[in-house]
Amino acid sequence: MPAQNRSGYGGVVEPCTVILFGASGDLAKRKVIPAMFDLATHQALGSRYAIVGFARTNMTDDSFRSNIGEAAKTISEVGPIDPQQWSEFAANLYYSPGDYAKPESYEALAKRLAQLSAEKNLGDNRLFYISTPPEVYPDIVEQIGKAGLNKSANPESWVRIIIEKPFGRDLASAQDLNRKVLSVFNENQVYRIDHYLGKDTVQNLLVLRFGNGIFEPLWNRNYVDHVQITAGETLGVERRGGFYEGTGALRDMIQSHVLQLTSLVAVEPPASFGATAVRNEKLKVLQSIRPFNPEMMAQSVVRGQYAAGNIGGKDVPGYRQEQGVDPHSRTETFVAARVLIDNWRWAGVPFYLRTGKRLAKRSTEIVIQFRNAPHMVFRDKGIEPNRLVLNIQPDEGISISFGAKRPGTEMNIGNVNMNFSYEQGFGKSTRPAYATLLNDCVRGDATLFDSGDNVEAAWALVDPILDVWSATKTATVPQYAAGSWGPAESDALIERDGRHWHNPQ
Ligand code: BG6
Repeated sequence: MPAQNRSGYGGVVEPCTVILFGASGDLAKRKVIPAMFDLATHQALGSRYAIVGFARTNMTDDSFRSNIGEAAKTISEVGPIDPQQWSEFAANLYYSPGDYAKPESYEALAKRLAQLSAEKNLGDNRLFYISTPPEVYPDIVEQIGKAGLNKSANPESWVRIIIEKPFGRDLASAQDLNRKVLSVFNENQVYRIDHYLGKDTVQNLLVLRFGNGIFEPLWNRNYVDHVQITAGETLGVERRGGFYEGTGALRDMIQSHVLQLTSLVAVEPPASFGATAVRNEKLKVLQSIRPFNPEMMAQSVVRGQYAAGNIGGKDVPGYRQEQGVDPHSRTETFVAARVLIDNWRWAGVPFYLRTGKRLAKRSTEIVIQFRNAPHMVFRDKGIEPNRLVLNIQPDEGISISFGAKRPGTEMNIGNVNMNFSYEQGFGKSTRPAYATLLNDCVRGDATLFDSGDNVEAAWALVDPILDVWSATKTATVPQYAAGSWGPAESDALIERDGRHWHNPQ
């Protein structure tokens, strides 16, 4: 295991230059730059470093610094920013404006990189980070290759590339993108990011299962009745209406984050906690999920779209009234699906997945519901099935529910919880998921990033659903009131099996 510094970051990082494409965009401001700031202030970005923003907006180094600085103060996710630390960090920010498809822009970038490397003694380690709209990913990769920036003259140095989600918009485009990326980079240089894997509680799934002796023996079809995974958000589409219209919840959340969680719940023990072993096992899970076909879709997949409603006492508009959204839009903001994993461990155990915007609570949780005791001596005494609930966010923790005898002369059972809270156990963590993943990438650890195969396998699962939806343009998209737990059809999906959603409290 690499050394950890005080902040929990892995130690020793060599000097490097990060080139951030899409540097003036929302994701860069909200997540990526604040994560780099967090790394830099914990000496985890390299003893010497430079971050070169690249985007179409015309800016100088100074205007980029102040623009990003303003954003960091208002929308950063790393908590209050110390002005002294920020100005030390900002001195390492640079900007190179350009057109993503124009070779001249990359020639200018190459010159700037050479000059910075010489001035600051940065060496040749280089990390490209693509956080632009997905349409321009192929241009960027191609132009990096044409400018020769994908290789280093120094064999001791590394060149890596982080590519944001969505990696493609269906299987064919993901395959095209993989081909393009692998014509310029080797697979071991490519880090396909899904920020859910940077969350400690998501990684803890592996620790819970494979680091302890007591859970794994129960973690299979003999003892588990079903699994529920909910990724609920209270936010709407915010300023991303234009992007979201062409995306929807299936592509935005299920193909990536929710299938990642599913893989980690279902995965077989990997031979080691190394990139290849973990990715290979996750791939097997995705390949074992029963493919959706048009016949089973009616019973197994539900979509929905939020209508006006009330969240936390505040009236909010419906999706079709949001900025950048077609007033007749059919884009789904909610998906629920019943997934079957056809392998020895999980045969016959349904996994119910759901995600949505403008739901009643921001909460990502995984519920493992166990089968009843084989012989119910205490039938009719109020006992409920045992549940293991993993709260991924925001109240990170784990709870186990079980029945206990209520005090008194009668035999009545109460259902109680045994709770573990991350905050109480380990103190509050302020480290953002993006920072964990960036730290892994600069240290060359790809375990928490996706391989090309995994991304394609996830698209192969959602493609048939997208096909059915696009072929049924006249079908109505069920509406749900903002602030609820989704459309009635979602309840019906699970209730058909005699089960109920566990709504996060
Ligand atoms: C992003 C999606 O990948 O994840 C967003 O594009 C979503 O639509 C976000 O809001 C959720 O991330 P988190 O970490 O807030 O759960």
